[in-house]
Amino acid sequence: MARVFVARRIPDFGLEMIAPHCELEVWPELVPPSPDVLKEKVKDCVGLVSLLTDKIDAELMDAAPQLRVISNFAVGVNNIDLAAATQRGIPVGNTPGVLTEATADIAVTLLLAAARRLGESLIDAKEGRWLTWDPRGWLGQELAGRTLGIVGMGRIGLATAKRLYHGWGMKVLYTARTPKPEAEKEVQATRVDLDTLLAESDFVSVHCDLNPETKGLFGKSQFRKMKPTAVFVNTSRGPVVDQSALAEALRSGTIFAAGLDVTDPEPLPPSHELFSLPNCVIAPHIASATVHTRNEMARICAENLIAGLYGKPLSFCVNPEVYLSKH
Ligand code: GLV
Repeated sequence: MARVFVARRIPDFGLEMIAPHCELEVWPELVPPSPDVLKEKVKDCVGLVSLLTDKIDAELMDAAPQLRVISNFAVGVNNIDLAAATQRGIPVGNTPGVLTEATADIAVTLLLAAARRLGESLIDAKEGRWLTWDPRGWLGQELAGRTLGIVGMGRIGLATAKRLYHGWGMKVLYTARTPKPEAEKEVQATRVDLDTLLAESDFVSVHCDLNPETKGLFGKSQFRKMKPTAVFVNTSRGPVVDQSALAEALRSGTIFAAGLDVTDPEPLPPSHELFSLPNCVIAPHIASATVHTRNEMARICAENLIAGLYGKPLSFCVNPEVYLSKH
């Protein structure tokens, strides 16, 4: 029977779907297997379920000569060398769509928390610094009617924009590689260049994927172009942001606050300076963490894996060219 390695305990729902189709091994620990252990585990495998914390590169693929499918339990696939997978004829699956709403919810949650100084005020209340109802205390930024800049108007960017356009009447600007007619219709969004977006937005929310062009997209000069009242939110991938530039921008008041669901590295060490800044709210990459969404991710991930085991096209394949190169 085909061997499959699942690199973490994904929801039972997915494991139960996979089990009848293969000889299954599930990594039992909370933290990922080391690259060496992963290499050892996949050596006789036909299928692999990987997570965004597992680096799946050419070396790993070469250690698994029978590998016929990689099913990533995530929408982002920056942890996988796609060119290497395509070269080896291995389709790679991801789990788009099902985490759009949950992720947009966290983008808005972080935006609100950072704008209204929720992180620091919760701690102040708990630790005895709530001395009275303070007319000048914990003053944040208003949301209604302000300008939102979406960097990367894909599914999640649009879902975030919809919440803020319909809920708070925000004006929406966006950047994207191509125009997004749906966003222009649904939230009256205007496509602008990044500099214009940075200069005009009161809230900047990042939703692009991580690739060589977006790595370090937000550095010193980008934060300098933003308003001193601006709130920066990142729910995409940590390396899109130069974190020392962000820390400096937050410390110096170049921008007002930030809300992050992703960092570089993950986990971010508790001693990291971003944790010491009262105007930075950091969540441990929880955007897709709802019961419903994680079950749906498990379902799609299992469907992709099973299709791959039987040599059928994956429902959600990020390197469909693999099917052309086979013929
Ligand atoms: C989470 O970050 C994902 O890419 O699914």
